[in-house]
Amino acid sequence: MEQKIVIEGEKELFGEVSIGGAKNAVLKLMAAALLVEDTCTIHNVPDLSDVETMIDVIGTLGAKTDYSKKTQTIEIDATNITDFVADYKYVSKMRASFNVLGAMLSRCGEAKVALPGGCAIGERRVDFHIKGLQQLGADVTIENGYVIAKGKNLVGCDIFLDIPSVGATENIMLAAVYANGVTRIRNAAQEPEIIDLANFLNVMGADIVGAGTSELIINGVSKGSMHGVEYSTIPDRIEAGSYMCMVAACGGEVIIQNMLPSHLTFVTNKLLEIGVNIRVINPYALKISKKNKLVATDIITQPFPGFPTDMQAPIMAVLTLADGVSIITESLYENRFMQIPELRRMGANIQQEGLHALVKGVDYLTGTDVKASDLRAGAAMIIAALAAKGRTIIGNIHHIDRGYEKLEEKLTALGANIKRVATETILSDNQKVNL
Ligand code: EPU
Repeated sequence: MEQKIVIEGEKELFGEVSIGGAKNAVLKLMAAALLVEDTCTIHNVPDLSDVETMIDVIGTLGAKTDYSKKTQTIEIDATNITDFVADYKYVSKMRASFNVLGAMLSRCGEAKVALPGGCAIGERRVDFHIKGLQQLGADVTIENGYVIAKGKNLVGCDIFLDIPSVGATENIMLAAVYANGVTRIRNAAQEPEIIDLANFLNVMGADIVGAGTSELIINGVSKGSMHGVEYSTIPDRIEAGSYMCMVAACGGEVIIQNMLPSHLTFVTNKLLEIGVNIRVINPYALKISKKNKLVATDIITQPFPGFPTDMQAPIMAVLTLADGVSIITESLYENRFMQIPELRRMGANIQQEGLHALVKGVDYLTGTDVKASDLRAGAAMIIAALAAKGRTIIGNIHHIDRGYEKLEEKLTALGANIKRVATETILSDNQKVNL
């Protein structure tokens, strides 16, 4: 049955919240586990629907998994690979499934993975992935909506990415671990999730240097030299940043634990600039509070270390309540302003001109029915609803479940009034609300 999230807003947030493992790192580690005829154990795995989808994807390829939500640990035994096809039903649901392409090509010399197509936030092409694999010597064709890559003897080479694509950097890195010779990815993505994948692969026996810089060097190793490992993934910087935005919008004082403040320096600086108080307590925690009215600022999304596109919708929700006019420029995706019409329904004053949004701060937002059009637009709805006067009912919450584990539990502990309900439920005072 369809579920919705119901929030009674205007509650300040107080207490401590602990951040889960990084969705966009762990999904790639799970794909990387396919590289070895062995078992990998990954810790700090978040309880998210995307993790379940990746379990299904690698399961159809033959990997055996044992996932404990309690210990947040997954064991992946990829000793036997029985298939090399990743079906459209998975890839259309979650684009990260496309990352099995590089790993399967490396391991089996052959992979067939559905083309993802566009999605709610933009066209999201995979041409850099394909070009990179071809440069390594793979024979890549597209047939019936699938990318078919073949190549048993890949050879290292220099690959220049037109833009520092996260997914292309990862797929090429996975394909190149067993290639003959040296692969250099120039203009590589520098996100923390890239470093996590390179670290994971290196512990498995790969030889990768330069992760986190624009030049990633992969020295090919022999297949027999890589093996299963035990590894703990990094904390989710976007989940942490989203909680920072919740406090910025609602007020209160919260300690955010099990995060890496060094992964969020741009977000932290912007929040400081608009009047939020932030103190890094130790390398894994910060304290954030807001007492005064916020002021407007300008934001331009950029690849890491710039302001993350995944934080654009969450910070927009905050800036709807800041004094003055903020200009937000989305430079990575052509359609990532889907939260704007929903925020307007809550009373926000936002004008969109192409890739720019002019946000004129208002005194308050008011609750109403809204929907999450994608994961981060969904986070923006949560932030706006927590700060708004009255009740907000958020639909399409399966998007939010892809990236925010135990959301109601974590927010309730901070003092928010948030519930997940079936579409028709008695909410309070015997009042039947048809949601
Ligand atoms: N692009 C191309 N051709 C390619 C690859 C990318 O034109 O071959 C373009 C894309 O269309 C996009 C831009 O390059 O406009 C950046 O795409 P990138 O490849 O860097 O993104 P991604 O790997 O598809 C990951 C995250 C996204 C996050 C981006 C940017 C995962 C599973 N997804 O996507 O996360 O926005 O990097 O940081 O890692 C999210 O978590 O909500 C999310 C969308």
